[in-house]
Amino acid sequence: MATLDLFSPEPATPDHDRLLALHAQLHHHAHQYYVLDAPHIPDAEYDRLFRELQALEMAHPEWVTPDSPTQRVGGKPLDAFATVRHVVPMLSIRTETDTESTGAEAFDARVRKELELTPSDAPVEYVAELKFDGLAMSLRYEQGVLVQAATRGDGEYGEDVTQNIRTIGQIPLRLPEGVPAVLEVRGEVYMRRDDFEAMNEKQREKGEKTFVNPRNAAAGAVRQLDPGIAAQRPLSFFAYGLGEVTPAEQGGPAFATHYAMLQTLKSWGFPVAAQVDIARGAPELIAYHQHIGASRDQLPYDIDGVVYKVNSLPLQRQLGFVTREPRWAVAHKYPAQEQITKVLGIDVQVGRTGKLTPVARLDPVFVGGTTVSNATLHNLFELRRKRVRVGDQAIVRRAGDVIPEVVGIVSTSPRTTYVPNFRMPRSCPICGSAVVREKTEMNHRCSGGLFCPAQRKQAILHYAQRRAVEVEGLGEKLVEQLVDMQVIRTLPDLYKLGLSALAALDRMAEKSAQNIVDALEKSKQTTLPRFLFGLGIRHVGEATAKELARHFGTLDAIMDASEEALTGVSDVGPIVAKSLHTFFAQPHNREVVEQLRACGVRWEEGDAAAQTPKLLVGKTFVLTGTFPTLSRDQAKDLLEAAGAKVAGSVSKKTSYVVAGTEAGSKLDKAQELGVPVLDEAAMLALLAPGAEAPEP
Ligand code: IVH
Repeated sequence: MATLDLFSPEPATPDHDRLLALHAQLHHHAHQYYVLDAPHIPDAEYDRLFRELQALEMAHPEWVTPDSPTQRVGGKPLDAFATVRHVVPMLSIRTETDTESTGAEAFDARVRKELELTPSDAPVEYVAELKFDGLAMSLRYEQGVLVQAATRGDGEYGEDVTQNIRTIGQIPLRLPEGVPAVLEVRGEVYMRRDDFEAMNEKQREKGEKTFVNPRNAAAGAVRQLDPGIAAQRPLSFFAYGLGEVTPAEQGGPAFATHYAMLQTLKSWGFPVAAQVDIARGAPELIAYHQHIGASRDQLPYDIDGVVYKVNSLPLQRQLGFVTREPRWAVAHKYPAQEQITKVLGIDVQVGRTGKLTPVARLDPVFVGGTTVSNATLHNLFELRRKRVRVGDQAIVRRAGDVIPEVVGIVSTSPRTTYVPNFRMPRSCPICGSAVVREKTEMNHRCSGGLFCPAQRKQAILHYAQRRAVEVEGLGEKLVEQLVDMQVIRTLPDLYKLGLSALAALDRMAEKSAQNIVDALEKSKQTTLPRFLFGLGIRHVGEATAKELARHFGTLDAIMDASEEALTGVSDVGPIVAKSLHTFFAQPHNREVVEQLRACGVRWEEGDAAAQTPKLLVGKTFVLTGTFPTLSRDQAKDLLEAAGAKVAGSVSKKTSYVVAGTEAGSKLDKAQELGVPVLDEAAMLALLAPGAEAPEP
């Protein structure tokens, strides 16, 4: 008699084998893409595999499993979240509010005292980590499959937010063979600053409520009852600990140190921050706190401090807990990224595109590591929604290199009606032209166009910046003078600047005037994406400019493209398409382009540009130091044109470090990790036609 195998109801058919192969491939590529940030295949190929899997599942609905890559999005809105009990409670950490180095010393002293160590005993070994500013999450895997995600709640009971957490690409739905039967991974769900900014920008454009900070936005997304909405909120994750795990006696893992545990989590596919480090004794904790503090602004996400943990797990057990906090860990804070201060006045600034931005003038306040005396209010509607008034106490946020902003008002009497004491001016504070606002637009704009010096100055600076056409040495002060003295009205006037006109300017030595003339000459040889970006078309950033150039090949093709043709470009939606189309429909803009070309501004077009062989797809480069012939940006452009990714920091996934003179810590790091190091010549050799795709 045939026995019924309840555990593998799926028949071994070619289709089902294909389905399993697709699962494996898609999991692998999602990990490469979301966690390692180093895709091995183009997006289009991933999409093709994904659609193939979808089609198979459509034909065989009985084959759909919860760990299928197609199951990230979906599910119905809930009425409420179910309650989850944490078998191993989710603890909090003691916070050392002393942001000076004494904070680390006090912790180390407490640990040593508790362990009854004498000054002659060796330093205690710690793991130093970042303290992410998001929300704690416990991910439960059974037999390697994600079965539950729960918030911390009160530490003992949290909420079941599995549906929402499944939508986070960085969180594996399935783990490799050999993981413990029960595994709870704990970590932080957070939102990157760029994702947060982009999301708020969209909200602002729609005139909808913006989020105060990435942490609130992440918390809101996680607690969304509709997983469809949660899926649209860009969340990320870092693992930093464990909850319930199959015990060693039953075949579970037996880690000796916290560090080893983190490395294992990484090997299982979880994102673990690259900054995790071992520190011996208080001096190394202090060094870590200072080093991370100095680079905090460069991180792509918010941290509010660092965390120190005793590395040895036996020592952790010996130290134990006080109430709900472990004695073996502490959080060491940084200065807050939000502060309260008084709004002294509200000024209006005019930007490159003519947008009028209300800016709060503040009683200077130390926030996020610097003194801030101005903060943006974005637009009139946001100012009103936040009920800002001159004279109020405002909450100001400054994080990373994002412009400081007013995120809200400290209201003393919440019920009083809001009577604004600021008005948008009817005429531009710079040029006096009428201020206009389209019905569907949130922003007020100066209608002066290039007649408005503010727009003229900004347009020139935008064109001349490093990432655009790059005119070295043409900075703010100089542009200010050139525009104010009416030497320059439009972009092409730049190229008509002679040595004498420049030398006549205030404080301009002949030598510097010559440098500008040379820089202008040099800038004429550029690339299509740089030129396109440099024109300062609304909504056309660097990435969009690159896509457009790749898609159309020539500037004329872009200028003559219909809105419909423009939307065919990845990254270009209807708003961007309309903006491009409107820009090139204006005769004076076309005139500017023609004049620039007539002045000798040129780039490689069409086939020559499009046919750069994509030799370096899937490779990640890090550049450091000064190169003999290329600027950093030129090197970056060349590598990107060949399909490589250029990253800012060295990690194990870096394929090559290209080092010039005065290369710093990145070179050390490369050597430490065994990443191959190239000089400029070796890098250029990789780019040469006929070069073999490298195998580092
Ligand atoms: S460990 C037993 N590590 O900080 C220690 N927590 O009060 C449990 N957090 O809400 C936490 N980064 O979400 C740990 N590297 C890190 C962390 C971290 C952020 C948060 C965590 C918790 C709070 C601790």
